[in-house]
Amino acid sequence: MKFFIDTANLDQIREAQDLGVLDGVTTNPSLMAKEGITGTENVLKHYKAICDIVDDNVSAEVIATDYEGMIKEGEELAKIDPKIVVKIPMIKDGIKAIKYFSNKGIRTNCTLVFSAGQAIIAAKAGATFLSPFIGRIDDMNWDGIDLIHQISNIYSIQGYDTEILAASVRNSLHIVKCAEAGADVVTCPLSAILGLLKHPLTDIGLAQFLADHRKANS
Ligand code: E4P
Repeated sequence: MKFFIDTANLDQIREAQDLGVLDGVTTNPSLMAKEGITGTENVLKHYKAICDIVDDNVSAEVIATDYEGMIKEGEELAKIDPKIVVKIPMIKDGIKAIKYFSNKGIRTNCTLVFSAGQAIIAAKAGATFLSPFIGRIDDMNWDGIDLIHQISNIYSIQGYDTEILAASVRNSLHIVKCAEAGADVVTCPLSAILGLLKHPLTDIGLAQFLADHRKANS
């Protein structure tokens, strides 16, 4: 399973990259706004700065919601760097745009996915990645992980190439559950990635080993 970091914060992206386990980055308009990145020129520059840190897979989301607008923006985004993946919302014109980019060999990430039906049509259109938002589904008292299981089953039966990119991941347990459910990629905050390292018995065990070593060598 690939690990993407879900942020537009350059320090956090650098920290995750330094850990040596990072495969990509996802952003969205809310995450860009959170970093205070405004205006087309600054947004494009910021995407380039992200591309310069990581090895590949930088999802950059279009703002337009009409077909022509998404094509224009997506082509501009794709020109920034070969690492860019054009992120397109799950709407009718979005599906047409995904098909267009797929025919042109430009990678896409279909975002705002909440059902298996949406996952099927995005795969048919040739999306490179599909982003089901598991945390937002959990927020509605449904089960986001169940959706990952369902899509994973459908994609394997049908032989679809689209990668399942579990998004809206809120914690480390979500990451473990996504791995069990067959996600190809998980995108999450740095805290959820670092949380995977933690176990109290590791800390207790390490303290004991070091104490025993000190005692034996004093
Ligand atoms: C990433 O591609 C999504 O935009 C992001 O994971 C959404 O996360 P949220 O539901 O925590 O806003």
